[in-house]
Amino acid sequence: MKINNNLKILLIISGGIAAYKSLELIRILKKDNIKVQVVLTKGGAEFVTPLSVSALSEEKVYQKLFSLKNETEMGHIQLSRENDLILVAPASANIIAHAAAGIANDLATTILLAANKPILFAPSMNVEMWNNPITQKNVKFLKDNNYNFIGPEPGDLACGEEGDGRMSEPKTIYKYIGSMFKKKKLNINVLVTAGPTFEAIDPVRFIGNRSSGKQGIAIAKIFYELGANVTLILGPSSQKIPENIKVVNIETAYDMLEAVKKVNNIDVAICAAAVSDWAIKNPSKIKIKKNKKNIPKINFSLNPDILEYISNQKNNRPKLVIGFAAETNNLVNNAKEKLKSKKCDWIIANNVLEDPNIFGGENNSVTFITRDNIEPWDKCSKTDIAKKLCSKVIKEILDS
Ligand code: C5P
Repeated sequence: MKINNNLKILLIISGGIAAYKSLELIRILKKDNIKVQVVLTKGGAEFVTPLSVSALSEEKVYQKLFSLKNETEMGHIQLSRENDLILVAPASANIIAHAAAGIANDLATTILLAANKPILFAPSMNVEMWNNPITQKNVKFLKDNNYNFIGPEPGDLACGEEGDGRMSEPKTIYKYIGSMFKKKKLNINVLVTAGPTFEAIDPVRFIGNRSSGKQGIAIAKIFYELGANVTLILGPSSQKIPENIKVVNIETAYDMLEAVKKVNNIDVAICAAAVSDWAIKNPSKIKIKKNKKNIPKINFSLNPDILEYISNQKNNRPKLVIGFAAETNNLVNNAKEKLKSKKCDWIIANNVLEDPNIFGGENNSVTFITRDNIEPWDKCSKTDIAKKLCSKVIKEILDS
């Protein structure tokens, strides 16, 4: 099996007798042209030497956090950034506990805390250490936070005992990595709008809203991970955008409309942006000075409705147009009314008065509305909402 020609892996070898198996793992990965950079912890270096690791990986071996030479050549942040996967093999109970507690007191644990790439642990330890409720609690916490685990496997352990604790075989780990990086291709073009828009009063002030962009970004990310061709049109937002997603940054509703017009052949449009319904009529070109006697009056003009614009396309209408609706009252009725008047296919509605933490928060609680269906979804993370929406979209598109 060939995994992926350009894959780069940062392998952390922590202290455990299974460290010798990691040498074989490096050999297998290298045979597949995968670049392997290795961080050897203090414990790891008790079992394998930096020389054998570097001879097999054909790379420099990293051991110290505060090494001036390493930090200038290749800092700990850069080490994680330039690799696609961080693999901890063997992963001792100690390194798992550090990762779960967010303790960063050496190079390996600092990389784990600073990482923005998938992390895979291949644990290896005594069976009692593995079964210890503290280790199990740590593993559960990490799994709940999207860390990946392979093994341990049952069998004879180096300590003479028997049970779960053996690190998975290098070939098994290699296959697991293959399944993580199998290129899936969802052959559709997806447009996502996200974030607020800002409408200028003068060059200094604006009106905007409390949208953070998190929900729309989560949707763009999930579609991207499934291989869709995603364009994210994003209003002012301080959120981190996953690398490789095509992002068009805009400020106003008009900018957003212009950006939307430039995207061709959209299969699915998801309008998660909180677009300002109004702009300021004739915004001042210079800063309006404060004057105690003369408080400025703002005149609004109506902004274009982007969701409505997309839904009303004649020849190029996407197969599926989905809107969001943040409401403070009459949630379902207002959302159903929007579905009709804007002619979109689905609306995802949330009550932002009942749950003000939705703006900028990690979780969302929504009602999914179609022409003939109203589905309240349980409160969950914005990523889970994105996954649920994504699987509905895929089903709809494939069925049509
Ligand atoms: O009418 P309202 O702003 O509540 O509608 C919400 C939905 O409409 C959202 O999907 C939002 O992205 C979209 N919208 C839009 N353009 C506007 C106003 C809202 O696309 N000017």
